[in-house]
Amino acid sequence: MKKTVLITGGAGFIGSHVVREFVTTHPDYQIINLDALTYAGNLENLRDVEYVPNYTFIKADITDAAHIRDIFSECRPDGVVHLAAESHVDRSITDPSAFVMTNVIGTVNLLNAAKEIWKDSYEGKRFHHVSTDEVYGALGETGLFTEETKYDPHSPYSASKASSDHFVRAYHDTYSLPIVLTNCSNNYGPNHFPEKLIPLCIHNILNSKPLPIYGDGKYTRDWLYVIDHAKAIDLVFHKGINGEAYNVGGFNEWQNIDLVKELCRQMDEKLGRPEGTSAELITFVKDRPGHDVRYAIDATKINQELGYQPSVTFEEGLSKTIDWFLGNQEWLDRVTSGDYQQYYEKQYSK
Ligand code: NAD
Ligand code: DAU
Repeated sequence: MKKTVLITGGAGFIGSHVVREFVTTHPDYQIINLDALTYAGNLENLRDVEYVPNYTFIKADITDAAHIRDIFSECRPDGVVHLAAESHVDRSITDPSAFVMTNVIGTVNLLNAAKEIWKDSYEGKRFHHVSTDEVYGALGETGLFTEETKYDPHSPYSASKASSDHFVRAYHDTYSLPIVLTNCSNNYGPNHFPEKLIPLCIHNILNSKPLPIYGDGKYTRDWLYVIDHAKAIDLVFHKGINGEAYNVGGFNEWQNIDLVKELCRQMDEKLGRPEGTSAELITFVKDRPGHDVRYAIDATKINQELGYQPSVTFEEGLSKTIDWFLGNQEWLDRVTSGDYQQYYEKQYSK
């Protein structure tokens, strides 16, 4: 029997790579991409799969319970891979309510719709919730987040994601809904929206604009190439155990300042600019309120139990990412026109 998999948020950064991974790796599946096309959603991210026969797009908002229920009863997906979310921490500090609506209420609407259409049998069904390592809070200088780490979210974004994780688990514990969760570290790669650190700096280097580094720049993040995240999602969706969560990461920690310096080095080389040109743009700015000091993922469980390994090193991944942005400057120009200008002005003029 042909499987139907509904992917939410498939027009976003990570979602578009997950859609591509599923459409190409599982040509026997029908893949439905459900996305509201917010400022972060862009069908241009999926031009290459747009006309593939096993792919369909539906524009819908997951906060609209009735519409979601109707779509589920019409399409009857066997699997849901849920990525749709408000994803940017700085925006969650300005407008937490939008994060509650999409990340919490939207997730519950999807859980209800899945529970309703799967009520006769859970056989062959799966709800995969894509989440973040930010639910675990912040680490000091040592230690790693494991799947056993107590939830301790700090930002409105991470609080909303933690809440959605709890609801997903609650539907498993209460209604036996077949669920899996993945909690991944920071992604980077093609199609990354330039509000996030790496693409924002790439865009600013190209335009010789200041590179805003929050606080002292010693905050640490653990970076994974987005295609490696998409592959991990495919693996857990198919091989993960019901009710279980899997941390996803590549054991690749960088202090922000060191990462931006490495980005500047590679960009100068690729743009043929004298060494040190881009690093001169580095500017320390006001810190993010409640800024989590360090994230670092222990990915032992997914590595050992499911045989997962990332495919690229950070240096290779960063180089591929820069090449993608250099080859897609029109994409960058289009997504940074209009609303982006206003957002940037408001965020960085403080
Ligand atoms: P993104 O902001 O690039 O994309 C989000 C997508 O969701 C967009 O296509 C947007 O249109 C869609 N969307 C937003 N609100 C919606 C709504 N109400 N209804 C339907 N669609 C809606 O986000 P991303 O960085 O690709 O993250 C995707 C998921 O992965 C999120 O759940 C995020 O929490 C999680 N995650 C992200 C990272 C990361 O580093 N970016 C790391 C770990 C986990
Ligand atoms: O850890 C996973 C999370 O990673 C995801 O769940 C989020 O959706 C995703 O946005 C990302 O969150 P971060 O807040 O870590 O990513 P961001 O790119 O916004 O910031 C990375 C680091 O860089 C962080 O320490 C803040 C800092 N920063 C960010 C921006 C945008 C700066 O110093 N300057 C900036 O202008």
